[in-house]
Amino acid sequence: MQPGVVGPCLYSINGMLCPPIFSVGAAPSVAALLESGLTTMTAKQTPPQEATKLRAEINDHNYRYYVLDAPVISDAQFDKLFRKLQELEAQHPELITPDSPTQRIGAKPLAGFEEIKHTVPMLSLANAFDEDELADFDRRVHDRLKRDIEAPITYSCEPKLDGLAVSLRYEAGKLVSAATRGDGYAGEDITQNIRTIKSIPLHLRDKFPPVLEVRGEVFISKKGFAELNARAEKTGEKVFVNPRNAAAGSLRQLDPQITASRPLTMFCYGVGVVEGAEFKSHSESLQALKRWGLRVNTAAAVVKGLKQCATYYQKMASQRAGLDYDIDGVVFKVDDLALQKTLGTVSRAPRWAVAYKFPAEEENTQIEAVDFQVGRTGALTPVARLKPVFVGGATVSNATLHNMDEIARKDVRVGDTVVVRRAGDVIPMVVSVIKEKRPKQTQEITLPSECPICGSEVMHVPGEAVARCMGGLTCSAQRKESIKHFAARRAMDIEGLGDKLVEQLVDHDLIHDAADLYTLKADQLAGLERMAEKSADNVIAALEKSKTTTLPRFIYALGIREVGETIARTLAHAFGRLDKLMAADEEALLAVNDVGPIVAEYVLHFFQQASNRKVIERLQHAGVHWPAIEVKAAEDLPLAGKTVVLTGTFTHFSREDAKAHLLALGAKVSGSVSKKTDFVIAGESAGSKLTKAQNLGVTVVDEATLQKWVAAL
Ligand code: IVH
Repeated sequence: MQPGVVGPCLYSINGMLCPPIFSVGAAPSVAALLESGLTTMTAKQTPPQEATKLRAEINDHNYRYYVLDAPVISDAQFDKLFRKLQELEAQHPELITPDSPTQRIGAKPLAGFEEIKHTVPMLSLANAFDEDELADFDRRVHDRLKRDIEAPITYSCEPKLDGLAVSLRYEAGKLVSAATRGDGYAGEDITQNIRTIKSIPLHLRDKFPPVLEVRGEVFISKKGFAELNARAEKTGEKVFVNPRNAAAGSLRQLDPQITASRPLTMFCYGVGVVEGAEFKSHSESLQALKRWGLRVNTAAAVVKGLKQCATYYQKMASQRAGLDYDIDGVVFKVDDLALQKTLGTVSRAPRWAVAYKFPAEEENTQIEAVDFQVGRTGALTPVARLKPVFVGGATVSNATLHNMDEIARKDVRVGDTVVVRRAGDVIPMVVSVIKEKRPKQTQEITLPSECPICGSEVMHVPGEAVARCMGGLTCSAQRKESIKHFAARRAMDIEGLGDKLVEQLVDHDLIHDAADLYTLKADQLAGLERMAEKSADNVIAALEKSKTTTLPRFIYALGIREVGETIARTLAHAFGRLDKLMAADEEALLAVNDVGPIVAEYVLHFFQQASNRKVIERLQHAGVHWPAIEVKAAEDLPLAGKTVVLTGTFTHFSREDAKAHLLALGAKVSGSVSKKTDFVIAGESAGSKLTKAQNLGVTVVDEATLQKWVAAL
């Protein structure tokens, strides 16, 4: 959470509560502040002295929060300081200064944007799309500098943010103007809007230069974007297609009050003009920007040579999906500024830099048809059949449309040209319709009244987003999906029993449910498509092997609604034996950590069905077995009574998994660090929670320790 202000400081825009606004300015050192005891004011001060001191403190905490990512006070303490300054300024309006943290907005809406000419043009970047093109760039740099290709060049590497380029001008430390990139030579004056962005200082700090024009990217984080859209949906306002569009729309508001309500932020990546300061390298200039109070991306690095550039690219590509902001590539810049000068610029792009782009995650294509897929629980999912398109590094011809509400919200029709997104391992989705390209003849998408697979009734439960086939296990689609789920790697892990094989087995009436799998003979399999004798034998062997399993896997494999791997594990550890779980009543289920009324209801319902009990009995009869789990009393668990906080990303666990393990170990998992926290488990790229733990002296352990705890369970 950002430092915010509660109570009287909240103001309202269009009925929405908005965070307060404040700034960073020239301030005493943090050490001095800490020594002074923060808010404790011993000697009686005059109101002007108090205002100056409060501003300095607030600005300093902002700097620690936004730029250093290392806050030293809680949000509540920060709010207190901010309110104090507001009250003081209300009593003494003559003390208000334009760069007071309370004065971020206040300017009236504009009639239109004025033009600002850039002192130094804002250039664009040449692109590279593969390693060969990156190598070409590096070779050109060597050639121009008359360097031996074997002598590595030092490059500054930075993520390429997908936002909007802006230029900020500071004179005597004060933010005096801000402009969009425009055509590179002149842009629009967006000073009023830029002032509302809390991570941009209204006043520089440390030994700032008399004149500074700094360039960077304004953007909205993924989290901020999700919150913004959730808010828009609630109030019935237009939702944004992606963070970039949201940032662009927010920056181009004539009314700064609206911009202030949008979660914009900025990373600075270069200097346009500087007077009174000199740097030898680009990386040195980034360090100086940080010292002066400007936010610089901490993922920036300095490397030597092409090979290390490629490694940096791979590293960022693998981290991309987990970052809280959108990036579309990485930028490599020759670090030495003297070399940059020698290399110069060609057709509006510097010869000393290149953007090595990731495969685009969004592309346009056309919807040729829409089919409805029936899932394990009968849910009907509309799937768009697309004109194949290369996106996110793969050819995509199907994309999910989620449900009918989404179709209505996005107004999607067959024949439309749409934006398709494929990011990381996420299922491709239709993001939006390009209305300008809508042909005259389009076809509306309607929910079928009968299941396209079994012909049973389709029910759209009011208030639920999904429509379901009511056929249950008489529907072959539902049967296929539940058997696929049963056989999956994370469930019974039956190697070689893939989706296609399950479909054939059901279609040929060889199996009707999961228990039938264990009656199969090799010769029945061998006759099927893509099944030779050897592979048939392998599947039979895999089935045999799968009979020895664990209780959490077996519970998960049953496919009870809302019982994913995490809950399955929790239930297994709470009851220890399947018969105990099957006999549990609602009260016993609700007594389990993390089991709520919905899960309890589904579990009860599942085990009440005679057909399900029969399948379980047949599975056990066929030889499926697992060791019982020793159920420990809550107070005997290894982490009983301990409060644990997770931060950063983990390699071996999802957040959910890590939390489930900790609960099973008896710990309480909390979202924020305080003096009462017993352990902080820090994964990669841990940020402010880790810093806070270190400041408070809380024990910090790594992922390997968590693994050891889990193994011991
Ligand atoms: S440097 C002379 N660094 O990419 C070099 N640009 O196509 C000017 N961008 O308009 C840009 N992240 O909006 C630079 N770390 C980064 C960047 C970055 C994003 C954008 C910027 C610029 C465009 C160039």
